[in-house]
Amino acid sequence: MKISVIGTGYVGLPTGVGLAELGHDVICIDKDESKIKTLQSGQVTLFEEGLPALFKKNVESGKIRFSGSFQEGIENADVVILAVGTPPDPVTKEADLKYIFAAAEELAQYLNDYTVVAVKSTVPVGTGDKVEALIRQKNPTADFDVISVPEFLREGYAVQDFFHPDRIVIGSNSQRAQKVMHELYRYFEGKTEILYVSRYSSETIKYASNAFLAVKIHYINEMADFCEKTGADIREVAKGMGLDKRIGNRFLNAGPGYGGSCFPKDTMAMACMARKAGVNLSLIENVIEKNAARKKQMAHRILEQVKDIQDPKIAVWGLAFKEGTDDCRESPALEIVQELIAKGAKITGYDPKASENARKILGNQISYAADMYEAARGADVLAVLTEWPEFKKADLDKLSSLMRSQKIVDCRNMLNSNEAFEKGFDYSCIGQTFKTVS
Ligand code: UGA
Repeated sequence: MKISVIGTGYVGLPTGVGLAELGHDVICIDKDESKIKTLQSGQVTLFEEGLPALFKKNVESGKIRFSGSFQEGIENADVVILAVGTPPDPVTKEADLKYIFAAAEELAQYLNDYTVVAVKSTVPVGTGDKVEALIRQKNPTADFDVISVPEFLREGYAVQDFFHPDRIVIGSNSQRAQKVMHELYRYFEGKTEILYVSRYSSETIKYASNAFLAVKIHYINEMADFCEKTGADIREVAKGMGLDKRIGNRFLNAGPGYGGSCFPKDTMAMACMARKAGVNLSLIENVIEKNAARKKQMAHRILEQVKDIQDPKIAVWGLAFKEGTDDCRESPALEIVQELIAKGAKITGYDPKASENARKILGNQISYAADMYEAARGADVLAVLTEWPEFKKADLDKLSSLMRSQKIVDCRNMLNSNEAFEKGFDYSCIGQTFKTVS
């Protein structure tokens, strides 16, 4: 099938590459000329485990191409996938649909044979109707269906999630469009559930899922607070809870609060949509507020460790919003760092992949180290802010010899607490209190 993907970000690019790998002829379109040039030169524009190899293979076989031209991409496409950003409006916090609408208006003129326009971007309920009306207005004779195909890929696991999804949701009542999508996703037949629902339901499933996961993370974070006051250990509690299949063991890692380009934006958009519809989603509203406050609390914990030190030096491990990505959008680590900077701390940060993107946000307000030990040199406290697996394997003897004071605030529960105590660290983490500090 001939597929056109509009938008080459963290969703569009892995989707395009994945579909090419399934044998479809894919063309990815983006308005960002420099991005298209980089992709055309054979380079991947973002960090995503496993993507470069698949990208290279499909570029070489000619299964995937890149272009800045809508005309080249849309004419003759069987399916046009909209994967452009829907960032929050800075004032209202609603999803800003300007990129979706601009893309719909532009693509309309190039639709010739029957085409399925599949909205993969996360959009409020009813957006499919608006996209359909816009296309119809621009090209009254076009033969097309607009459907909703929400994305459930996680950054850092996009390739794995593309080929092994828990489900594929297709929102359309048009049997013609369903048939086309059935063909597009034929590879998944018998491997994963393909759910056909109405467009409104499909648009809602995406928000309801992300909001639920955000609530789940906040729940375990609140339980962690409880454990700290009562002497229980959140890791044991999460394990015990997770063994109940109704609860499940995933997304029960307590930490500094959720971040990223999805959960903060989507929970806010969900709350806005509900308010407009006259529904009070008090649980989600509460989680949004508490999750924002949690990052400040984390910063406070770190500052407590250096409150008696003049011009404290703080080492930060992790700048990305989570492990496995170079993405720093709404990163809890950066929000905490900004709070620390505001209090006058001198910071050296290290991230295996995200330093460049962090620098775009923080500039020279902090120093950037080339490795985790370099970041810790001369530090009064080390804050672990992102769950990169390499932090688990840290050589604590080496760390101890490099730091000015042996203090660690582990906001991701990455280090082995017993080992940290043995090596003489003043160690604290999330959801666990230690009766004896050696
Ligand atoms: C999320 C969803 O998990 C995907 O299913 C969805 O497709 C995507 O949003 C999207 O809407 O595009 P993503 O934002 O890539 O994916 O990252 P997650 O792995 O969900 O993590 C989000 C945040 O929650 C991170 O800050 C992470 O550190 C935090 N988190 C996650 C925890 O604090 N604890 C956990 O147990 C899990």
